[in-house]
Parts: sequence; structure tokens; C-alpha cells
Amino acid sequence: MLRLGVNMKILVTGGAGFIGSNFIRLILKKYSEYKIVNLDKLTYAGNLDNLRDIEKNTNYTFVKGDICDKSLIEKLMKGIDIVVHFAAETHVDRSIKESGIFIDTDIKGTYILLQAAKKNNVKKFIHISTDEVYGEIYKGSFKETDSLNPRNPYSAAKAGADRLAYSFFCTYNFPVIITRSSNNFGPFQHPEKVIPLFVTNLLDGKKVPLYGNGLNVRDWIYVIDNCEAIDFLINNGKIGEVYNIGGGSEISNIDLTKLILNFFKKDESFIEYVKDRLGHDRRYSLDCDKIKVLGWKPRFSFDEAMKSTMVWYKNNEWWWRKIKSGEFRKYYQEHYKKHME
Ligand code: NAD
Ligand code: TYD
Repeated sequence: MLRLGVNMKILVTGGAGFIGSNFIRLILKKYSEYKIVNLDKLTYAGNLDNLRDIEKNTNYTFVKGDICDKSLIEKLMKGIDIVVHFAAETHVDRSIKESGIFIDTDIKGTYILLQAAKKNNVKKFIHISTDEVYGEIYKGSFKETDSLNPRNPYSAAKAGADRLAYSFFCTYNFPVIITRSSNNFGPFQHPEKVIPLFVTNLLDGKKVPLYGNGLNVRDWIYVIDNCEAIDFLINNGKIGEVYNIGGGSEISNIDLTKLILNFFKKDESFIEYVKDRLGHDRRYSLDCDKIKVLGWKPRFSFDEAMKSTMVWYKNNEWWWRKIKSGEFRKYYQEHYKKHME
């Protein structure tokens, strides 16, 4: 296994998003000598407010740019030791409405990064994939060796990127590690995703739109656990391998909704059953023995992490209000002009 030095330079893509920003915060805190370059296009999902507390850290640099911009990527890749590739279009509902951008960013963008990273002899390329590439499973749990059966344009694009990254290992012996995590929750998640959407709707006294019969099941992982697992795999993962990262906390959407309603002391009249998502995957479930054998397991209990997440949204209205009120772009132009070229 390649031993990492103390002065690593990491290129994080999509670091202004939900998981990427939590990851950058974790790494800067844990490794005082590491340098991080955060490349993010600042799409509707990218938000520099996620990194306000560390923007002045001298080990941190932000670059506004697109992973599909080949010449920018080739320039940025010089001197990089590790790439941690989060950048993607990530919302299933958006991919159902319009999938073109998912193909461009998630597949082509990954290809451009892989090419440039290989050319520059990057020591490790951590490709952030998702449990959604396996498709749905009614009983049992997916192992890393199971075949992929993505069922919506988002997960199909992610499956393409996942296998493209793997092909760079098989074909060129390029040092790729692939992570497939389950649904993340925690601070700084865009309020289009179910937990922050439901929590902030209730904080506003609004109903929550539950798709179909609410019986779809997801396995939830606290974002800090996922970020720690990624760090663990950078140090302990085997090159060319895929690792599932699950929270081990499966819950149906209806039970999740009741848990949130309970916390905010609201009754079930706040549930609005709405038309189901097209091709809605029934259940995701991961077998995580492979990473557990290496020595990682989640630190946080689902109930405790959910409570602290709900409290976080309650206490950080400044963060989500401008996103939900649609003033985000305007606010952004004014407050982050220096990053917008
Ligand atoms: P997010 O939507 O919150 O953030 C994505 C980030 O990527 C944003 O900051 C956006 O501006 C940036 N981005 C988008 N297109 C870009 C481009 N062309 N160039 C540069 N930057 C671009 O997503 P997230 O929830 O933080 O997910 C991060 C990664 O983890 C994704 O690859 C996703 O597929 C994967 N993942 C997410 C979950 C989850 O539950 N959130 C679960 C498993 C895997
Ligand atoms: P989401 O947070 O979009 O994540 P993913 O589709 O990647 O799993 O959705 C989580 C679950 O919640 C999924 O089964 C769809 C459901 N859902 C609703 O019931 N209502 C909503 O408004 C949203 C956004 C999701």
C-alpha cells in the first residue's frame, strides 16, 4: 500500500456541495499540513456558505470552475497527490426531468479528471460513487461484487463514471479507489433532498410531500461518518477496490417522516401524499463487511445524529432560508463576487 506523506496536496472536486464541504472541514482539522484545492462550478447545489468558517484557512484554496474544462483541469492537476472526486449532478428528481447535464458532469467530467490525473501521476484517485448504482433490492444487501443495475438517469450516469474509474485501474494500473455510500444526512445538505426539505417545511409550518405510499426504504449514514470512512480509505483502502459505506440504519420514508414530525411535535395531518417518483427505487441496502474487516464502522447512532441534524437546521435558518426563498443567486453575486470572476 502506498504510504502517504505529511504534506499531501489534495484536489477536492465539488467541495462546495454537501458531502464535499463536510469532508474539507474534516481534513483541514485533522491534518494540519495538508493543502486542499477545492474546485467547484457553483451550480445551484454549490454554496460557499458551507465553508464560511474555513475560507481564510491558509491551507485552503477555492477555484471556481468546471470539471469538464480540460485545460483548467490539466493546470490544476499539477502537483496534486490525491484527488477526491465528489463533483456531480446529484438529484434523482432533476435527472428524471432533464438528464443531459448528468451525462456531461457525472460521466464526461469524471473522464476529464481521470485523464488529467493519470497524465500527472496522481498517487490516489478517490472516486465517490453511490449505492444507487446497484439499483433496488427487495431482500438482503448488495456486496461490492454484485452487478450494477441503475434504474434512473442519475444512477445510470454514476454507474458509468464508477466503471470508467475502474477501467483506468484495470487498463492503466491507475490508482483508483471507489466508494459507494448510502444516503447521507447532516448539516449543509441542499433542501431539495428529503430530510432538509421536510425539516425546513415543518419549521415553516408547511406540509411535507411524501412520494407514493412512503414504503420505500433507504439506509441512512451521517455525513461525518461517510467523510471519516473516505479518509480511512485514503489511508487504508486497497488500490483498484470498491468499498460500500453504509450507516446500517434502514428506515422506510413513512417512518422517517413520522420521526421528523414527532421531533417537531406535529401530527400526521402534516403529511401530504403526492404522486410517486417515476421508477422510484423501492429499497437500497449495503453489505459493509469489506470496510468493516479493514477496521472502519460508523461512530454515530442514527437517532442521535438525526436529532443533532434537525437541531442544526432549526438553529441555522440563515443558511437554508435564502436557498428556499430563491434569492440564492442574487445573494451569491453580492457576497461572493471575488470568487465569481
Ligand atoms: P451536492 O449536490 O450537494 O454537491 C455537488 C457539488 O458539485 C456542488 O457543489 C456543485 O456545485 C458541484 N458541481 C456540480 N457540477 C460540477 C461541475 N461540472 N464542475 C465542478 N463542480 C460541479 O452533492 P453531495 O450530496 O454532496 O454528493 C457528493 C457526491 O457524493 C456525488 O458524487 C454523489 O453522487 C455522491 N453521493 C451522495 C450521496 C448523498 O446521499 N448525498 C450518497 C452517495 C453518494
Ligand atoms: P432523496 O433525498 O431525493 O434521495 P435519493 O433519491 O437519492 O434516495 O430521497 C430520499 C427518499 O425520499 C426517496 O425514496 C424519495 C423520497 N422523497 C419523498 O418522499 N419526498 C420528497 O419530496 C423527496 C425529495 C424525496
